[in-house]
Amino acid sequence: MEFPSLRLRRLRRNDTLRRMVRENVLTPDDFIYPLFVREGKGIKSEISSMPGQYQLSIDEAVKTAREAWKLGVPAVILFGIPDHKDEIGSSGFDPDGIVQRAVRAIKDAIPELCVITDVCMCEYTSHGHCGAIKDGDVDNDATLELLAKEAITHAASGADIVAPSDMMDGRVAAIRDALDDEGFENIPIMAYAAKYASSFYGPFRDAAESPPSFGDRRSYQMDPANALEALREVELDIAEGADIVMVKPALPYLDIISSIKSQFGLPTAAYNVSGEYSMIHAMDRLGWGDGKGLMMESLISIKRAGADMILTYFALDAAKVLNG
Ligand code: PBG
Repeated sequence: MEFPSLRLRRLRRNDTLRRMVRENVLTPDDFIYPLFVREGKGIKSEISSMPGQYQLSIDEAVKTAREAWKLGVPAVILFGIPDHKDEIGSSGFDPDGIVQRAVRAIKDAIPELCVITDVCMCEYTSHGHCGAIKDGDVDNDATLELLAKEAITHAASGADIVAPSDMMDGRVAAIRDALDDEGFENIPIMAYAAKYASSFYGPFRDAAESPPSFGDRRSYQMDPANALEALREVELDIAEGADIVMVKPALPYLDIISSIKSQFGLPTAAYNVSGEYSMIHAMDRLGWGDGKGLMMESLISIKRAGADMILTYFALDAAKVLNG
């Protein structure tokens, strides 16, 4: 059949019909909300490059986590902003570090909320790179030990999932081995498997106070020009024991999400990163677009591409829209 007897507009005529033929839907279950935790009490300071997002002291992080749970968001992911930074990021694997204490406080207050921790060194190192430095570059193998120590302290504090975001080779295996040795064989690993060296992380580095003090991250994060390499990264992470694989950023890499999901069929996460959030806010603020529409369209596109989970700063706002 063809036009004029065939008319695809027939099923777009009103909202009820559109609801009936809708192929993808969002629910608050899809979201993971990132939280930035810092020292202090009663602190909720807005991040200037991320309107509506805050650096939170632990007591405030608990309140926000509770709000997320009440809105139906099942998980948060924690990023730490320590008072003390050094060459090897030792506050990252301090059993009483900021993230470790935040995990304990949040799990204590809202036991059912899934608490994920970002496992990386860049928030804790004085130079802002994702590992220990040797000869001006990140030393892969020395960093694996630090990451494994960090993951163990997160699990010991009660983290439900650990999420390595450093892009060192072999980190998933190193973390899996270390967790299993310490009796944390039931803690899943969500691997930032295909993490690109992206300009869209700019606002996050403000938020986490983690810009590299020299150079950039292109010797460990992926080249935005590459797609086949992402499949290799994912394949390796799965072989090393990843339970969930992540693509990051999301919107400029929807093709990568789609091919990873169809090729491997594993639970797949996508990180709708800080720059993707802030550009929508900027458009809304300038009167160049409707923030709510841009937000919901971005999120459904990530789901449509194949993501089962979306890490997004929009989690609370979008859950409010979805809950009516
Ligand atoms: C840490 C990390 C980064 C992000 C998540 N984990 C920053 C980076 O790699 O520079 C970025 C998240 C965002 O932009 O929202 N390695």
